[in-house]
Amino acid sequence: MEVPSGVATDRVVDFDIFNPPGVETDYFSAWQSLVRPDGPGMVWTTANGGHWIATRGDVVRSLWADSERLSSEVLAVTPGLGEMMKFIPLQQDPPEHGPFRLSVMKGLASRYVVALEPKVAEVTRELIAAIKPAGACEFVEEFAEILPLHIFLTLIDVPLSDRPRLRALGAQLTRPDGSMTVEQLRDAADDYLRPFIEARMANPGEDLFSRIFVAGVDGRPWTMDEARRMCRNLLFGGLDTVVAMIGMITLHLARHPQDQTYLRAHPELLPQAADELMRRYPTVSVSRNAVVDMEIDGVQVRAGDIVYLPSVLHNLDPSAFEAPEEVRYDRALNPTRHTTLGAGAHRCVGAGLARMEVIVFLREWLANMPDIRLDPDKPVRMKGGNVGACTALPLIWN
Ligand code: HEM
Repeated sequence: MEVPSGVATDRVVDFDIFNPPGVETDYFSAWQSLVRPDGPGMVWTTANGGHWIATRGDVVRSLWADSERLSSEVLAVTPGLGEMMKFIPLQQDPPEHGPFRLSVMKGLASRYVVALEPKVAEVTRELIAAIKPAGACEFVEEFAEILPLHIFLTLIDVPLSDRPRLRALGAQLTRPDGSMTVEQLRDAADDYLRPFIEARMANPGEDLFSRIFVAGVDGRPWTMDEARRMCRNLLFGGLDTVVAMIGMITLHLARHPQDQTYLRAHPELLPQAADELMRRYPTVSVSRNAVVDMEIDGVQVRAGDIVYLPSVLHNLDPSAFEAPEEVRYDRALNPTRHTTLGAGAHRCVGAGLARMEVIVFLREWLANMPDIRLDPDKPVRMKGGNVGACTALPLIWN
């Protein structure tokens, strides 16, 4: 696509968000290659049909929270993705968004998250017991991909014997091998979820879906179409994001053995350690469409333009966080300040659950595993995209 008129050449780049330069070895520095000291806060990339990318922390954060001038409806950049998924509430704009989001929030209220904690600990210990005797594992495949899947099945009250079916689907979400199109992935997810949605709508129980259905939408029941789109959002939103987060945190631990020792000695710091590690390793980016013409950071963004917002360029910007690349467990951090979980009207509704999963993972892992390190003979691999992640994380221990 042509560069829009009036965009200065120093703002034009050729940056493929799905494959930033060097992403296979380091997702974070691949993104940071876009940033120049005192450089612009918005650039135009000619890749993927042409779109804006916010590159400075303050611009990323303020646009993320600006759901008046930027729409979430289309999920642009990935052609056709939004039209296929029609996620509720992710792809809704205010005011339509509010009542749907409220119901989902009720279903994920903190009392339910607290009640789930022992189950998450149990599943984590089970997975640890399965990998520990070997002295080595491919962490993404053998652990990170499985944990959130089991938690999701527990949340929707599906017997864990049902794991293998969703397992293959989960792997396609995090490590797509090209064997399934996005449409097939959506259909496979819908086929999986359909019987549970129908049963819970007809006969609500205590599980997550039932709680959300019972909450209704602005005083009326959910339609089947809305219910499908919402459940699909929970499945897609709560799996690969957690896989990515747990992978990055474990990579950090493997590279910093002193942190394993320190956190083991200070379990009381785990909640703030989880917040700091989540800030340090953001992997989600979102796209929005401008609904009006507007000036941002000295450039003219036109209605319809796509604006891409990478949380990594907010959280790792030194003007947003002091020494952002350092993991400081004593950083006085308000978790709503970083954008790992978004900002504004769409900030992650699963934030409390995600944070609990990370805290429990850290607690159980550090308590039940010896010191881990990277296998020197096998490479760590990463990928870009709307959710960046480790795709290979080979660990060894004594
Ligand atoms: C560490 C793990 C997670 C990360 C990094 C993460 C990240 C995010 C981000 C950045 C957004 C904002 C999207 C936007 O502004 O367009 C979001 C929204 C959302 N997340 Fe999460 N998420 C995580 C875990 C979860 C979990 C466990 C669930 C539920 C089971 C979940 C469900 C959702 C839903 C439904 C939305 C849409 C909210 C709305 O549009 O109002 N997420 N998440």
